[in-house]
Amino acid sequence: MNDAEARAEIERLSAELEKHNRLYYVDAEPLITDREYDELFRDLELLEARYPDFASTNSPTRRVGGEPIDGFEQRAHDVPMLSIDDVFSEGELSDFFNRLVKGLGNSTIPVTIEPKIDGVAVALHYIKGQLDFAITRGDGARGDVITENVRTIRNVPLVLEGDAPDWLEVRGEIFMPNEKFAAMNTARDEAGLPVFKNPRNATAGALKLLDSREVAKRPLEFIAHGFGRIDGLALESADEFFALLETFKIPGNNPIWHASTFEEIMDAVNELDVKRHSLPYGTDGAVVKVVNFADRDGLGFTSRAPRWAAAFKYPPEQKETVLRAVTVQVGRTGKLTPVAELDPVLVSGTTVSRATLHNQDEIDRKDVRIGDTVLIEKAGEIIPAVVKVIPEKRPAGAEKFDLFQFVSGVCPSCGSPIEKEEGFVAWKCVNFSCPAKMANRLKQFVSRKALDIDGVGTIVAEKLVERGLVSSPLDLFELKVEDLAELNLGTDEAPRMYGAKNGTKLVTTAERARTAPLHRWVYALGIPQVGESAARELARLHRNFDELAESEILPVLSEMKTGQRKEDNELLSEFQIAGEVGPTVAGAMKDYLASDEGVELRSRMKALGIDPESANYLPVATAGGEGSDSNPLAGKTIVITGTLSAPRNEIKERIAMLGGKVTGSVSKNTDFLLSGEGGGSKRDKAESLGVRIISEEELMAFSET
Ligand code: IVH
Repeated sequence: MNDAEARAEIERLSAELEKHNRLYYVDAEPLITDREYDELFRDLELLEARYPDFASTNSPTRRVGGEPIDGFEQRAHDVPMLSIDDVFSEGELSDFFNRLVKGLGNSTIPVTIEPKIDGVAVALHYIKGQLDFAITRGDGARGDVITENVRTIRNVPLVLEGDAPDWLEVRGEIFMPNEKFAAMNTARDEAGLPVFKNPRNATAGALKLLDSREVAKRPLEFIAHGFGRIDGLALESADEFFALLETFKIPGNNPIWHASTFEEIMDAVNELDVKRHSLPYGTDGAVVKVVNFADRDGLGFTSRAPRWAAAFKYPPEQKETVLRAVTVQVGRTGKLTPVAELDPVLVSGTTVSRATLHNQDEIDRKDVRIGDTVLIEKAGEIIPAVVKVIPEKRPAGAEKFDLFQFVSGVCPSCGSPIEKEEGFVAWKCVNFSCPAKMANRLKQFVSRKALDIDGVGTIVAEKLVERGLVSSPLDLFELKVEDLAELNLGTDEAPRMYGAKNGTKLVTTAERARTAPLHRWVYALGIPQVGESAARELARLHRNFDELAESEILPVLSEMKTGQRKEDNELLSEFQIAGEVGPTVAGAMKDYLASDEGVELRSRMKALGIDPESANYLPVATAGGEGSDSNPLAGKTIVITGTLSAPRNEIKERIAMLGGKVTGSVSKNTDFLLSGEGGGSKRDKAESLGVRIISEEELMAFSET
């Protein structure tokens, strides 16, 4: 193949792939199988590798993401990205319409009504039909350039077919469809990764990632609702704009209603209120916009928003029902939460039969009593809550509810005493080993920074505890793949098995955790006050659990009075103990090891043959001082950039083990810049400041000195 043929073939394959991409993601009418698509994709990849000069930045192969970047550049919006004025009632919407009537001197005004998508705003700039860059809204005047991340969104065309204007800036929302969000959260949870609160946060989180290959794995979508800069094309109305989107196969907002009187607007707003619950994304309002651009120009802008648009915010749906009883749940942190047991009612599309009452103060403030008729709404459209009591409907003799009395002062889960922390309104179970807290403790135990055991997310942790497979974290080391395979994560009616594959992963990674260093084990136990840095410092001072249990340091430290300094104590001064370990931490660690649970834990670890060793043992420290043999990076500040052979967390850990500290940005106080492949701006800065740049090999060499 000669150059010209290669170029033509790359173009042909690119166009072909984009066509199938669109058929699949935009039109939902795929013509070829996934396998055929993958083959075309591979052909293109191979050709582009051989002829890199002909590979376009908008090649379909870019949709899987590229090399991670150091940070986002910023860019100014050519046309400011304004917000919309919110209106909260029919009255306010009618005021808005009357302002249009007055401003334009017409009694009817053509407007559109469309869903307000709960996503993250973005501006896509197509120059001569090519996606050139994409910017977030930012502060409205300038935003982050997130082009690489946006290229991974499958329903965003990278190239506009046909007669594209010289410059077309399309604005819209990036979002994660509700169902895909739920599935992703479940998968993340099962993999032991943190879950997102709602689809919007998940979207914002994904777009902030510096590694576009990661973004490519998140199920993001785009919908257009407006435009910024357009060169080489004169549009007269929103209808023309939406028609233009359609010719370029850019997904536009849908459904859209047309209206020209206030009554028609209200009809559309009400229809949308019904329809919006079945849209695949979250909505919290209806956007009303003037259709004709001449009218828009006539109305103009205020400093923050156009006068030609308004967002009608739907109030959360509220329903009345009867509160039959109050029960008490022990949460994963040990918090006792009163829960209203209700006659089932349909609210915003789902049946609600329970709602949180938060705590006793809330019950008292709202004066909620058993037998009351109460008003229910879904806060943030998700979690049902009791808004207020309808006092007129209170039956005679309705009783007040007292949580402490109801549980007779003990935890309903384990029978231990409950306590209210100073300054907090909630009652909590004080028992560290309360089974209700076990799932939470298990999650800390397996977390990345602790023992890094795979496959235990919230649901798995809860089911392991619920089904009696785990009642102490150490039970994890005795689980059998066969038992895990049969673990039902679903319900009896809709079972969903954990499976042998996941089970094997859990068992193998648990096996590896047996020899994890002491500081990880200490942190894994989830002893209140003993965080990650404290655990590391404790492991610097002790070789293993035996030494921790017989420590000379911990009793002295825990007895220290406020105002006393470690440096003034003869024993403690010698060790130069870091600020992370003070009397509270020392006391917590000592008490835990002396408690029944601590003693039991250690004897069971012995029986299991688990005896973690400190990996950073250095009792007479050089903290802050110059390097010594085993802490060659002591006192050194290191910044990381570029692509390295291991995840950042791991590299950070390696540096910490060598006594160094990792910070985020290069300054004159930086000792080294650890630079992998790439690493643009930080490298430049380090060079200009004369900061020494080291490679990963050089870092490794430190540990061998
Ligand atoms: S039109 C100048 N239409 O909501 C007004 N915005 O709260 C241009 N949004 O900044 C915006 N859905 O990011 C418009 N159908 C829709 C929308 C929408 C969501 C976002 C948009 C805007 C924000 C204002």
